[in-house]
Amino acid sequence: MTARGRRGAAARRRRVVVTAGPTREYVDPVRYLSNESSGRMGFEVARAAAERGDHVVLIAGPVELATPPGVTRVDVVNARDMLRATREAFRTADVLVMTAAVADWRPRRKRRGKWRKEGGGESATLELVRNPDILAEVARRKGDRLVIGFALETGDGVARATRKLERKGADYVVLNDESALGADRTTVDILGRDGSRRRLERRTKRAVARVLVRLKPLRA
Ligand code: C5P
Repeated sequence: MTARGRRGAAARRRRVVVTAGPTREYVDPVRYLSNESSGRMGFEVARAAAERGDHVVLIAGPVELATPPGVTRVDVVNARDMLRATREAFRTADVLVMTAAVADWRPRRKRRGKWRKEGGGESATLELVRNPDILAEVARRKGDRLVIGFALETGDGVARATRKLERKGADYVVLNDESALGADRTTVDILGRDGSRRRLERRTKRAVARVLVRLKPLRA
């Protein structure tokens, strides 16, 4: 390739931000609220994007996975840290793929010492406050950049996922069900803001990821 061709290719390199895994919301130094999430789907999206030549920032909650080659990883613990990291990375990005299973709630306060059961009764109350919706907040200022969200729904999720697509301002929502949790294969419906719907049945997460990184922005 000529120097000019190389410069052209570099200029066209997309900048992709992927979030993955759960968040953890600590109650005290040793206990937390979280979601079931292995992080595998997001790590596969990061891998697939890097393989096609994208510049990738992977914002990961606490997961036991190796960073895919060529990917810049930012580790976070709770939803507010993930929001900060995502906002920062998306500032200069073209694409956001939000696969993270963000905890909807966090304890109003984190106890400094262990929450002791001694002296307590048979029940206890934990006050929770709402976490920010990272996808909705970031997508609000997305302009014509591509934003892809995920929705894990039980039962008939299409109507719910479609509402989510609108409410959160994403271009696409990838609908899956709880059989995807920790599994290698998954069945998904990719719902577009343009009304499109594409089903991928029992594909590996790697195969689904390769389809997702080829999605194009939708015109409003
Ligand atoms: O509302 P629900 O959690 O089902 O939405 C799922 C989508 O929204 C996922 O893409 C998830 O990463 C994102 N989300 C978020 N911040 C939250 C909750 C979900 O970005 N607090």
